[in-house]
Amino acid sequence: MTPGGTSASELLYRLVSERRSIRRYEAEAVPAEVLERILTAARWAPSAHNRQPWRFATLTAFHWKDRLARAMGDRLRRDRLADGDAVAAIEQDVARSYARITGAPVVIVVALDMSDMDRYPDDRQRAEHMMAVQSTAMATQNLLLAAHAEGLGACWMCAPLFCPEVVSEALALPSGWEPQAIVTLGKAAGPGKPATRRPLTEISWTPSDTPA
Ligand SMILES: Cc1cc2nc3c(=O)[nH]c(=O)nc-3n(C[C@H](O)[C@H](O)[C@H](O)COP(=O)(O)O)c2cc1C
Repeated sequence: MTPGGTSASELLYRLVSERRSIRRYEAEAVPAEVLERILTAARWAPSAHNRQPWRFATLTAFHWKDRLARAMGDRLRRDRLADGDAVAAIEQDVARSYARITGAPVVIVVALDMSDMDRYPDDRQRAEHMMAVQSTAMATQNLLLAAHAEGLGACWMCAPLFCPEVVSEALALPSGWEPQAIVTLGKAAGPGKPATRRPLTEISWTPSDTPA
């Protein structure tokens, strides 16, 4: 039992089901020790061969968030212009993306590094890379849950997948880091959108005990 009389399992199930993606934040800074606890929780995720391929770049200074948001916005604009989208809609999207990144007290760029993973000369390398992606996603889920446990909001943003080289260059990330996502983090400015999930009956299947 925890001091409040809640069992560890009750607490875990509540954290898992009550976490919501938060996209708007108060300006309040997140204390360094809280950030360290959250990143430590990420570090305890399981990983393929326990190689821990995840890497995190934590941005708190406006300068870096601005630099990242501008670089990603420029690329978003270029891609959507090439798609033939309306200029007004593109500019709205770019402005929204800029506001979301610079408006978060903390931006964590989640990357992976293949240097400690196994190497194959053939197609198995794709599986090895996928293992690194999966392991990094596990760490990111830990991060989201830890943020929620700390009373903070967070949101996973996938945009770096569309422009990893832009993210690496804007932040001068160490060579070998492959950007996977951005996690924005801070004190929530409001509740997240109510979430729904598919019923268990729709997503699970148990084969009959008796052979056909
Ligand atoms: C791989 C992944 C990519 C996501 N990318 C984005 C994103 O780019 N922008 C965004 O606002 N939310 C993004 N999300 C958050 C999802 O929209 C959110 O988890 C989903 O709608 C369920 O809502 P909940 O997290 O509040 O339960 C992403 C989540 C995951 C796991």
